[in-house]
Amino acid sequence: MSDLTRITFDLFLAGNETTSDMTRWFLIYMTRFQEIQEKIQEEIDRVVPRDTLPGLQHRNQLRNCGDVPGSFESQGPTYFKDPDKFDPSRFLDKNGKYIPTCDGFQAFGIGKRQCLGEQFARMELYLITASLLQNFTFAPPEGEREMSIAPDKVPIGHNPRKEQKFSIKCRN
Ligand code: HEM
Repeated sequence: MSDLTRITFDLFLAGNETTSDMTRWFLIYMTRFQEIQEKIQEEIDRVVPRDTLPGLQHRNQLRNCGDVPGSFESQGPTYFKDPDKFDPSRFLDKNGKYIPTCDGFQAFGIGKRQCLGEQFARMELYLITASLLQNFTFAPPEGEREMSIAPDKVPIGHNPRKEQKFSIKCRN
């Protein structure tokens, strides 16, 4: 196998399931924590004109979007107060600016083997999640009151449940 083939393979493998899992977790959390979804939508509506999709030019003003809700909890009481509470604001400093790294959150790894695609993944996640919430509201399926945030039962990893149903409402 040539080096180019290996690198391309690496990028697809390392960058695919990770990003789609993170997006699925995001939707499950937004569905479960409707008040946070509403807060993000209010922020998007304030910053991004209705006929424009959220772009990188809006990223600094969308403090509650993208990176922050993507920073799913939690590593226990050593690092966070109320570790079981979903509280994206813990990743903002006192001026409301996003804190990109903290000891309790290492989704992209650390040291020599740290994720090569981190900046790209964060950008992707921001664009995908902000565009989704600008245009749709996610809720539990009809008849279900509260969405479970339990992961799939797999031997490794902490994967979002496959075949999770949502009710999706268009916001226009
Ligand atoms: C939400 C998305 C992603 C997450 C959570 C994630 C997470 C990680 C983690 C934890 C590692 C370190 C594994 C270790 O310690 O051995 C890693 C490595 C890596 N990631 Fe990602 N990743 C994501 C997206 C991406 C994307 C989009 C790309 C490429 C475009 C990518 C490319 C890589 C590569 C090439 C490595 C290997 C680095 C090395 O061993 O030198 N990742 N990723």
